Amino acid sequence: MPQPRTPASVLFFVVFFLWLILPEGDYQSHPLNASDIATQQLARYHDALDVLNTTQWGDFAPRSSSDPKEKRDTEKEQVPHRYLNLTGFREEDGFAWEELQTFRDKSLRLSHHVVPPINGKQLWDMAQGLHVWENASSSLQGLWVRHPAVHRSFEDYNLTQIAPMLEWTGDESEWARNVTGETGRMLISLEGNKTLVAYEQLDDMDPPFSGGVIRAVKATATIEDSEGTGHNWAMKLWGVHWPRQGVMLLSTTSEKFEGIFGLPHLSPGPDYFRSSQRLLNESIANVLSKKEQNIYMDQTAPWSSDIENPLYTNNPSPHCEYIMYAQVHPPTREDLGMSLGGGSPDDTHDAIHAIEEELTSPLGAPIGHIPRLRMSAIMYSPDCGFYIETKGPPDYPPSEGDHLVGVKAEVHLAKIKRWVLVYAAAAFAQVHLLKNQIRDSSTPSNMGRVSFTTMSIMAVADCMTFTGAATWMSSAAATFLPTLALLFASFLSMTIGGSFLARVHEVQGPERRLRDRRSNSPEANTNTANSRAASTPEPTNSGGLLPGPVTAGRPPPPPASEEPIFIPSDQDIDAEIAEGAMAVPRATPSPDQRASAPPVTFQTLVGRCILLTLGLMFLAISSTTWYAGARSFFLNLCAFTYMSLWVPQIYRNIMRNCRRALNWPFVVGQSVLRMLPIAYFWVNPDNFLFSRTDVNTFLLLCGWVWLQILVLVAQDVVGPRFGIPSAWTPEAWDYHPVLREDNIEAGGLPIGLVADDEQQHGGGSDEKRHAAIDCAICKEVLEVPVVRTGEEDLNVAGVFARRLYMVTPCRHIFHSTCLEGWMKFRLQCPICREELPPL
Ligand SMILES: *[C@@H]1O[C@H](CO)[C@@H](O)[C@H](O)[C@H]1NC(C)=O
Ligand SMILES: *[C@@H]1O[C@H](CO)[C@@H](O)[C@H](O)[C@H]1NC(C)=O
Ligand SMILES: *[C@@H]1O[C@H](CO)[C@@H](O)[C@H](O)[C@H]1NC(C)=O
Ligand SMILES: *[C@@H]1O[C@H](CO)[C@@H](O)[C@H](O)[C@H]1NC(C)=O
Ligand SMILES: *[C@@H]1O[C@H](CO)[C@@H](O)[C@H](O)[C@H]1NC(C)=O
Ligand SMILES: *[C@@H]1O[C@H](CO)[C@@H](O)[C@H](O)[C@H]1NC(C)=O
Ligand SMILES: *[C@@H]1O[C@H](CO)[C@@H](O)[C@H](O)[C@H]1NC(C)=O
Ligand SMILES: *[C@@H]1O[C@H](CO)[C@@H](O)[C@H](O)[C@H]1NC(C)=O
Ligand SMILES: [Zn+2]
Ligand SMILES: [Zn+2]
Repeated sequence: MPQPRTPASVLFFVVFFLWLILPEGDYQSHPLNASDIATQQLARYHDALDVLNTTQWGDFAPRSSSDPKEKRDTEKEQVPHRYLNLTGFREEDGFAWEELQTFRDKSLRLSHHVVPPINGKQLWDMAQGLHVWENASSSLQGLWVRHPAVHRSFEDYNLTQIAPMLEWTGDESEWARNVTGETGRMLISLEGNKTLVAYEQLDDMDPPFSGGVIRAVKATATIEDSEGTGHNWAMKLWGVHWPRQGVMLLSTTSEKFEGIFGLPHLSPGPDYFRSSQRLLNESIANVLSKKEQNIYMDQTAPWSSDIENPLYTNNPSPHCEYIMYAQVHPPTREDLGMSLGGGSPDDTHDAIHAIEEELTSPLGAPIGHIPRLRMSAIMYSPDCGFYIETKGPPDYPPSEGDHLVGVKAEVHLAKIKRWVLVYAAAAFAQVHLLKNQIRDSSTPSNMGRVSFTTMSIMAVADCMTFTGAATWMSSAAATFLPTLALLFASFLSMTIGGSFLARVHEVQGPERRLRDRRSNSPEANTNTANSRAASTPEPTNSGGLLPGPVTAGRPPPPPASEEPIFIPSDQDIDAEIAEGAMAVPRATPSPDQRASAPPVTFQTLVGRCILLTLGLMFLAISSTTWYAGARSFFLNLCAFTYMSLWVPQIYRNIMRNCRRALNWPFVVGQSVLRMLPIAYFWVNPDNFLFSRTDVNTFLLLCGWVWLQILVLVAQDVVGPRFGIPSAWTPEAWDYHPVLREDNIEAGGLPIGLVADDEQQHGGGSDEKRHAAIDCAICKEVLEVPVVRTGEEDLNVAGVFARRLYMVTPCRHIFHSTCLEGWMKFRLQCPICREELPPL
């Protein structure tokens, strides 16, 4: 009963949808409304801004772990340890700030390694070192290593004390973003503000100097912790970028850590402090006043590090906080295509500048190859007490890791555009193949062979592409045109495929009804099979030259539920079973049988396909938060199901004993074109999503598709039922029977063949026997092999020879090509107008 199921599944998806989109949180326990929470949060941030505004370099001098213990005690009076009145920076908050000096030292060591001294002079400190990329907007990936520093667990913190007025959830268990693995992969995408702010660099300060320009920057970092917690921890960090030096300092901000407000105090030196304090003082004040103006509209907290739940909340859940120091590597002269040795730092500066100008506003300048962007980074978690460093020199040889490598944002964007266009082109090619296939399958007979499920798998995939492209359109600023092309191509593919499906569904309607009838009364099935055998003009005896319908005299096939059915997707079980039921046309049913099985309308199937598409899309979106193993299993399963698309067709060929439902360009072309996007993400480590590649699974998938095509070829060559136990398949007329001499006497030969055969009988007796007859369609001679009495015809040559002729149930014989051509238009015998079972 398929139709009553639809409202239930709609309900299920509505509930599923609501569960996905509703933010977490206990609404009953809120004593305040949302704007009250926002007001309170912004008020706290105003206090923090005052602290940032009024503090000076040196106001944050926490107790250091590098201080010798006795010195620490004696010097307490002279150099008091000082803390900031910011959440997370207070002494009583208990964060592991004793590592701050170590963090600064490690940062400087990293910069000094990346920009090495020239002639023994550390020019980087004076902001005169090698030039680096000025715009750091980019996407990078690389390996990280974890170094534990201070042991801290969630039990060491009293969150109610750190952030009063909030009701923390989950603070009694391990915090999120607590990376526990030793090593793994990380992705960072950086987005810099276009506006560069210049400031005066004072000479009376201590080095290192910061270079006189600064801009705001934000980053999205994803730390893959598959060895440890198994999660991919994603977070947003905000901070500042000193382009002359290539230094970035970023931090997370949350209810328990006002990172962005204390950021200047974490910088390497007083010059860095002053410049970043001035920039942040201004930009934070701007953001806060904007948020206050839109307090009823804008529910996202400023600088929220939580990607999944960035809203203002009274019930936050704790995450490990991070501060990050990053150093952009200067491109080598080799990278820039310049001669090695010689030259001043200024000409590399010019080359870098030319490339960046061209990337920002393309004028067609000849800039050649655009070098990759490299970056080293070090992250410290002041509350969870560990370092995460990018893997590479000097601590690790370059063969084990090369820090973070990536491409500038403009190059990345160009890459996305290119691949979306390639995808669109593939979709257009699919439309072309589909068009040719539809032209070939224009007759009811050919349409009857096509598997509805195979075509609907393709339609569902196109529908998903279309939905994805349509969703992306709204935010696809720079990729608008390629996405539009993809949208159009997938729309064409979806609608043309859909209309073809509608016609296939209509043509296959009668067989579906037959299947319903048959499952209602199995006896009717055997009766109709027998009546077909009886309806042939001359009755065949049991050992006749013409075998009767293959299953005559066999018990009826088992009920559909026991048949070995491969069901690749759950939306089309009925059609799938229906395919298995169709054998030969049977007598019309009695009215009471017809009434008992309501047909599945095409609209119902379309509805199910759309629900399936939406469900899969939601699953795919929510899978980004799953464990890495579960997610890759899910994606591989999806790819495998998708690429099993020929299995239903193979099954239908077997069940209907038909071949060549789809033409070869369609089968091969669709396989290759639909594998292309999978190949891109499964094999190319440079793909624009930076998704993890899985070459082995892809090879397995290729093998699986190749196997399916091989089976289709084999079905075409040796017959769809070759090697299948006959008991598994329903009866179908065998158009290529073995013609046996020992049945000649019984009068079972095709009409007209007997006399001819008798003439030849006296002739060659040693050789293999042949009989000849005129084909009624083309009037040419048709020679058929006849197996001699007592011989078995099992050799392959016999199989091929039998493919050349076709015998109808009314015992007329024709060339295969002639009758197949005829049957494209009519399912009637050309001689006696008896109905023919479809191929
Ligand atoms: C929500 O808070 C705002 C500001 O405090 C107040 O004006 C409004 O009445 C509150 N709404 C509700 C439903 O409590
Ligand atoms: C910053 O501090 C100065 C005084 O040092 C004060 O005049 C100014 O209003 C403060 N700015 C902000 C945004 O709090
Ligand atoms: C810290 O700031 C809060 C306001 O945010 C203020 O109430 C408190 O008195 C300050 N504490 C110190 C020690 O200045
Ligand atoms: C982080 O994980 C480590 C190791 O499992 C654990 O000892 C520590 O308590 C965790 N820290 C937090 C803050 O949950
Ligand atoms: C946490 O701090 C609050 C407020 O200072 C206090 O009432 C509570 O007892 C503390 N909890 C623990 C476990 O120390
Ligand atoms: C970039 O910085 C300028 C000036 O500091 C500011 O007005 C603008 O809002 C910033 N843009 C973004 C996208 O943050
Ligand atoms: C990149 O840098 C150039 C100059 O170096 C500047 O003109 C341009 O606005 C910057 N673009 C972005 C997106 O930051
Ligand atoms: C912060 O900004 C305010 C104006 O918004 C200014 O009066 C003050 O001097 C600034 N403070 C610093 C330290 O730059
Ligand atoms: Zn012919
Ligand atoms: Zn006939």
